[in-house]
Amino acid sequence: MAKNIPSFICQNCGAVYGRWQGKCDSCSEWNTIAEEGAATQPRMPGRAPRKGRVFALEPLAGQAHEAPRLPSGLPELDRVTGGGFVRGSVLLMAGDPGIGKSTLLIQAAAALARTGHRAVYVSGEEAVAQVRLRAERLGLTDAAVELAAETAVEDIIATLSEGKTPRLVIIDSIQTMWTDAVESAPGTVTQVRASAQALIRFAKRSGAAAILVGHVTKDGQIAGPRVVEHMVDAVLSFEGDGAHQFRILRAVKNRFGPTDEIGVFEMTGAGLKEVPNPSELFISERDLGSPGTAVFAGIEGTRPLLVEIQALVAPTSLGTPRRAVVGWDQSRLSMVLAVLEAHCGIKLGGHDVYLNVAGGLRIQEPAADLAAAAALVSSLAGASLPREAVYFGEVSLSGAIRPVAQAAARLKEAAKLGFTRAFAPETAHGETGPDAGFAITAIDSLTELVAGIAVAGSRTRGPARIARQDG
Ligand code: TYD
Ligand code: MG
Repeated sequence: MAKNIPSFICQNCGAVYGRWQGKCDSCSEWNTIAEEGAATQPRMPGRAPRKGRVFALEPLAGQAHEAPRLPSGLPELDRVTGGGFVRGSVLLMAGDPGIGKSTLLIQAAAALARTGHRAVYVSGEEAVAQVRLRAERLGLTDAAVELAAETAVEDIIATLSEGKTPRLVIIDSIQTMWTDAVESAPGTVTQVRASAQALIRFAKRSGAAAILVGHVTKDGQIAGPRVVEHMVDAVLSFEGDGAHQFRILRAVKNRFGPTDEIGVFEMTGAGLKEVPNPSELFISERDLGSPGTAVFAGIEGTRPLLVEIQALVAPTSLGTPRRAVVGWDQSRLSMVLAVLEAHCGIKLGGHDVYLNVAGGLRIQEPAADLAAAAALVSSLAGASLPREAVYFGEVSLSGAIRPVAQAAARLKEAAKLGFTRAFAPETAHGETGPDAGFAITAIDSLTELVAGIAVAGSRTRGPARIARQDG
């Protein structure tokens, strides 16, 4: 008989501790550890251990069935999943509350239902009337989506097992679900895991594709989606911020497809609209040509994407100058600043530095180094960069600019949007340029970039304001 040992579980990452502590050693979050009673022991009163069933082992070679895909009817969503929902697979849709997960999924369910498939939407957060109201606003009431407001996992599975198996089941959200199998309260790590486990078993058995919604939580009140990440087949993260209407859907894990694709949506009054040509969104005509703005020719997954990088370098009034960055990696900014100081003689110790990626996008590519450096130097010098130019290249610690992958695709996208120049590492030269009217300036080192910007600045508005360490 198992003893009732209380266990303390981190609600963020699921690490188990014997006693309470303020900080989780595993994920370094504070105040996320909560007591969950003896909940880790499943309730099986007086049952004898089951005798194992013998099953057949299979060879590695054999008939492999292509995962049968079901396109959702939303091409941007399909791009991220790798071509549609896979039968019997479970997908976790994680995101901040209010980002638009429910909106996207009711749209996906409706699109699927319109193609004649059975789609079921189970809401544990909203009443049926609320979901209907939203569907009405989105103009989806003609789609044959089946709705329920339920939170008991056993009831949901019993209902879904009746009649024709649904092709798509949406559980909104996994944190509101509870199962009889464990005793802890809904929203705890144990409940969330057990409920997810039961729903995953149902999906595998029935062949239905299931989507679990998981709210990203900032404090330890309810378990975060990370505690089920390892159980599901794919994890999609829905990102964006309240100030922008753009939403980015990103695959964090995908057993059946790529993990580097992004889907771009725009939140409008009539729901989420797909953005088939996102480069146009992330560049604002008004900012181009003002000091501190550079256009980065990036790649997200297989798709080239032009993004505007904005920098502001201003004398500081603080003892320790500020370094603030939105949409890019803080440590990469520090690195680029260090290289500028060490190899280009640019003194930034007395300046605050702000770097922002326009449109709420988050860039992870090192290829953005050159564009970030160009924006920083341009702001410091008060010299605008050429309006018609894009930048890409990775900065190494020696100050050299290293070549990056898929230069041709980047250049093609730039040409498509009307840009006529690129500042890029040498090898981009060798790649076939988009056409005759497109000029590629090879940049070998950061010093070369800085010199170019300083010269352009002095031509337009007198001596550039770049402070040299050694005069
Ligand atoms: P929702 O899908 O409920 O977010 P989540 O399920 O991730 O918590 O979306 C919430 C926000 O989206 C809400 O603040 C209002 C906004 N919204 C629109 O701007 N337009 C719309 O058509 C809809 C349905 C929602
Ligand atoms: Mg919701």
